[in-house]
Amino acid sequence: MPSDLLQSTVPPRNRPLRAETARPGRGLSTGQARRFRQLSELTRLELMAVDIMTGRVLDSTGIDSFQIVPGTLWRHLATTSHPRVVEISRKVLCCAIPLPEAEDCQAVAMGFAFREPCAPPSDLVLASVESGWSQERLNHWVSRQHVTTTELLRSVVDCAWRQLLLADEMQSLRSELTRSTERLEQTYEEINLLHGLAKNLQFSRSPLELSELCMNRLHGLIRSEGTAIWIEERRGGSGRMLIRGRIPFDELGLARILAGSEAHDWSQPLVLNDIERSCLGHDFPGLHNLAAAPIGDASRRSGWIVSVNLPRNRSFGMLETSVLGSVSTILGSHVRNLDLKEQQDEMLLSFVRSLVSTLDAKDAYTRGHSERVALVARRLAIEMTLPEADLHDIYLSGLLHDIGKIGVDDRLLHKVERLSADEFEAIKQHPMLGYTILVGLKDLRQVLLGVRNHHERYDGLGYPDGLKGEEIPLMARILAVADSFDAMQSNRSYRDGMPLEETERTFREQAGKQWDPQVIEAYFACREEVHALCANWRPNDGTLLSRSAH
Ligand SMILES: [Fe+2]
Repeated sequence: MPSDLLQSTVPPRNRPLRAETARPGRGLSTGQARRFRQLSELTRLELMAVDIMTGRVLDSTGIDSFQIVPGTLWRHLATTSHPRVVEISRKVLCCAIPLPEAEDCQAVAMGFAFREPCAPPSDLVLASVESGWSQERLNHWVSRQHVTTTELLRSVVDCAWRQLLLADEMQSLRSELTRSTERLEQTYEEINLLHGLAKNLQFSRSPLELSELCMNRLHGLIRSEGTAIWIEERRGGSGRMLIRGRIPFDELGLARILAGSEAHDWSQPLVLNDIERSCLGHDFPGLHNLAAAPIGDASRRSGWIVSVNLPRNRSFGMLETSVLGSVSTILGSHVRNLDLKEQQDEMLLSFVRSLVSTLDAKDAYTRGHSERVALVARRLAIEMTLPEADLHDIYLSGLLHDIGKIGVDDRLLHKVERLSADEFEAIKQHPMLGYTILVGLKDLRQVLLGVRNHHERYDGLGYPDGLKGEEIPLMARILAVADSFDAMQSNRSYRDGMPLEETERTFREQAGKQWDPQVIEAYFACREEVHALCANWRPNDGTLLSRSAH
């Protein structure tokens, strides 16, 4: 080993140098060969690629190369993990630059330079003889080597090494950038999908409708052969399987697949890749991979989302399961919210029933009036093509329109004789009393204007606010017609019910005066159904419409 090393010795890589392990025919890997050529271009040196285990020259960028380099050189230079320059004699320099590690080949790029023209040292003469070179060939080789200083050679080698490291780093950054861009695009599409779904989470959307939307968006995003969503149509009831693309199993098949994965931790989507070689693959020909996520948790599982058969070069992984998990969470939350809303509606209706029962108990003559007004008002609203949500509000408002009579003296409500002006004024307080009773109840806020203004007149002569025409809330204008119809048709303590012909003549005469002509027109358009509603109503039948029955 030369004693005049120019660089401090780098700790050896603890690799035994065993020439006997060299395998004939072993060459540079593709990566090593590329790096070897790059180093030669950057340093402008004739380089030899040397196997560090054997000293065998595997490749060369010059015209000539030794078959094997002197052991005193390669044994020393091969132990470095960084470029090194050594003086192998007073006038001859040798550099070694590690090539990338490969599975079955560890190599360095080795080059020579002369500090001044001179005869080669004995090591190189021996190597040339072992390689079968003539003296002339050796002289020719020497004449092609650069004449330089140690410092300059070291700078050139270091610069080439750093440039390649930078190139490696750039390549690594480019690869990471590509991966990040792909992840970003996927994340953007996922956010876009979730945003689109979030905008469609209205209570008016049934689980089936939202499932259809989810399935279409998921199918476009995951790009598998098939996407399916099995969803309960009603709580605890039967379900439906929606399919986009091709799914190689039916509902029963899906149940079998899921039953076979009972042990899976369903807090995460189920992923089955390489199905074809499994028993499942034999049972379901054409199924080669699958991802499934439950809709809802174990306490309220209302369906499943399944994606099957990605293109052959893809497997289900983090990206796909993340989207499936997010969409199933949204769908599960929507179903749970609909359940809660239904329970809330039922509670509200029970409360309204209690209030109506209390009112009915005060006046046997008006028993059922509230329910009939609610049914008639709702029918008129249907005729006027109002939306579903308004129908429910109008129905509730009809049930509660006279609730203020709870606060009116029973004797006035039951009085057979003609009421005095003061007594009539007392009864006229009931719309405001009803409003006052209900105004603190947030869930009944939507019915307040119907309760307060159902005794307004279209000509402005009504009470309590004296509103006129379309100043009167539409709900109240509809209730006014329904209320008057039932009141004129029903017996009271002080009079019998009015014949239908007379009621309808009054409607025609008072349209545009007492009542909104559009509502009167709606009445005449559906008069037979209105009559049937009232005729078919029976006391104590206890039938109040729930929202779901609408
Ligand atoms: Fe009233």
